[in-house]
Amino acid sequence: MSILVTGGAGYIGSHTIVCLLEKGEDVVVIDNYDNSSPEALRRVMQLTGKEFKVYEGDVCDRDLVERIMRENNVESVIHFAGHKAVGESVEKPLKYYKNNLISTLSLLDAMLAAGVNRLIFSSSATVYYKEDTVPLTEDERLGCINPYGWTKFMNEQIIRDACQANPSLSCVLLRYFNPVGAHPSGMIGEDPSGIPNNLMPYICQTAVGLRDHLTVFGNDYKTHDGTGVRDYLHVCDLAEGHAKAVSFARGRTGCEAINLGTGTGYSVLDIVKAFEKANGVKINYVIGPRRPGDLDENYSDPSKAERLLGWKATRTIEDMCRDGWNWQSKNPRGYRA
Ligand code: WQD
Repeated sequence: MSILVTGGAGYIGSHTIVCLLEKGEDVVVIDNYDNSSPEALRRVMQLTGKEFKVYEGDVCDRDLVERIMRENNVESVIHFAGHKAVGESVEKPLKYYKNNLISTLSLLDAMLAAGVNRLIFSSSATVYYKEDTVPLTEDERLGCINPYGWTKFMNEQIIRDACQANPSLSCVLLRYFNPVGAHPSGMIGEDPSGIPNNLMPYICQTAVGLRDHLTVFGNDYKTHDGTGVRDYLHVCDLAEGHAKAVSFARGRTGCEAINLGTGTGYSVLDIVKAFEKANGVKINYVIGPRRPGDLDENYSDPSKAERLLGWKATRTIEDMCRDGWNWQSKNPRGYRA
């Protein structure tokens, strides 16, 4: 029996595969390398000393996915594959709706045809309505402000309705807060294409000299130091959350949404200071205007994950900064080197 990981060559997918293999699970991967590199999977094999089958292909190809499931005796699926750039989703909404929705519809169709009943879906805190009620629990109001977020929202609804119509299905919608950092080996990590949208990769690229300085998007928010507060989560903690979700899904049916976060918020300047302290580097930054759509603060109530999954984040903000820097300094150009 194996776990099919879609988008397994990506940042969170590759870290999750390391965790699954270390727990003795068998995995099989499908990835079209649209926004990832086969080098990541080669390094996962090197890091774990374990081999696994990799199919280069598109999750929208329903027949291919069904064939993979049958050929590899798949019993669970973790679905990471999808476009994820908020800004690009605003410029190219149809690209995002087509890819992110058709991939999930095709996957579910193939699962039902192949008799695969368990699905862990990579959702996001971005599905929560943009209001500053923190900490966020899973029953908060949902609503999005960009097509990327809406594809996560719509995929959650598609999966929920599929569970309603097919009682044998067992699905978990994992709502990530802000994944950062890298595996402590420094062999795998976050490798955004182009200019990073997110804070931590931008800080790492500034520290390694790829970027001249960080622009802090606004310092007039209603927070302790005026800069945006978020719930940063070590990617290895996030990976462990997926392994726990697979076990949880094996013992039940139905659909559950679960936050994966630390429950603690840190501001942009908190992160800059923690990064400088953990790594003995200086981060040049300037204060710029607010980024449209940004909230003052956004962090999770992770108690449902602890209750249902027996999962709790353990790594500190210093671990996140140290591991992120270790990856970036060892791989200044990511996997492209
Ligand atoms: C964090 C803080 C910025 C960059 C995004 C997506 C969300 C999810 C997680 C996928 C904010 C500030 C950032 C910079 C800055 N991804 N910042 N300068 O916006 O909380 O969430 O990633 O699911 O969908 O929206 O994360 O890292 O972009 O921003 O000052 O160059 O850092 O204003 O306060 P965000 P982020």
